[in-house]
Amino acid sequence: MIDTHTHLYDEAFIDDFDQAVERAVGAGVEHMIFPGIDSSVHERMMECAARVPDRISTAVGLHPTSVDGNWKRELDFVERCLAEQKWTAIGEIGLDRHWSDEYIREQEEVFRQQMLWASEASLPVIIHVREAHDTVFRILDSLAGSGISMKGVFHAFSGSIETYRRIKTYGDFKIGIGGVITYKNAGIAATVKDIPLEDILLETDSPWLTPVPYRGKRNESAYLLAVAEKTAAVKETDTETVDRITTSNAKKLFNLR
Ligand code: NI
Repeated sequence: MIDTHTHLYDEAFIDDFDQAVERAVGAGVEHMIFPGIDSSVHERMMECAARVPDRISTAVGLHPTSVDGNWKRELDFVERCLAEQKWTAIGEIGLDRHWSDEYIREQEEVFRQQMLWASEASLPVIIHVREAHDTVFRILDSLAGSGISMKGVFHAFSGSIETYRRIKTYGDFKIGIGGVITYKNAGIAATVKDIPLEDILLETDSPWLTPVPYRGKRNESAYLLAVAEKTAAVKETDTETVDRITTSNAKKLFNLR
């Protein structure tokens, strides 16, 4: 399996990062993608990734909840990173109105700019949307109208089947499925029934969104197996099939070997 979205570099793993990687590999996770957030976590992310370079790929991007009065400087930082080396993706980027609306205009500008950079570099994007699908679609509509090419993943997907269908009109987009699919009252399981496995990527979003039966504990990439098993049950297939197809999806989208 590939954990396409994990923050194992988070300080939650400051004492046992190496062991968390070992546990993930032991659980069948062959590769992990680290999404960026902002400059404050960048160095730690790169140090962690360098410890197991064959198993970890990194993305760079400015997360919507990190957009504040410093946003211009932070966006410059992303631009510099993009100029310096090759990245697996630009992310995570997007819009989040859950915590605050204060910088929503700036969030929009930051998102749009990073979408343009991704298109220029032919990189996939890792999109985070919370309570802002309409605004994200308005921006994607305008980008599509200017002939901008797009591909990537809508991570921690929580939308309806109609939202999924709309996402597919913008380009080669996948749906990131994580621990929420194991929650009893989450509607996402019913939606996943109607999403083909060819459009699904597995993710943990560690250390957050811990799947059942580990809920209440810190999430880690080893728990990806619980997400794969639940996805298999929802799709009425076996875990091996979910593993094989979603791994192939991730390798293609992120250009992994
Ligand atoms: Ni994340």
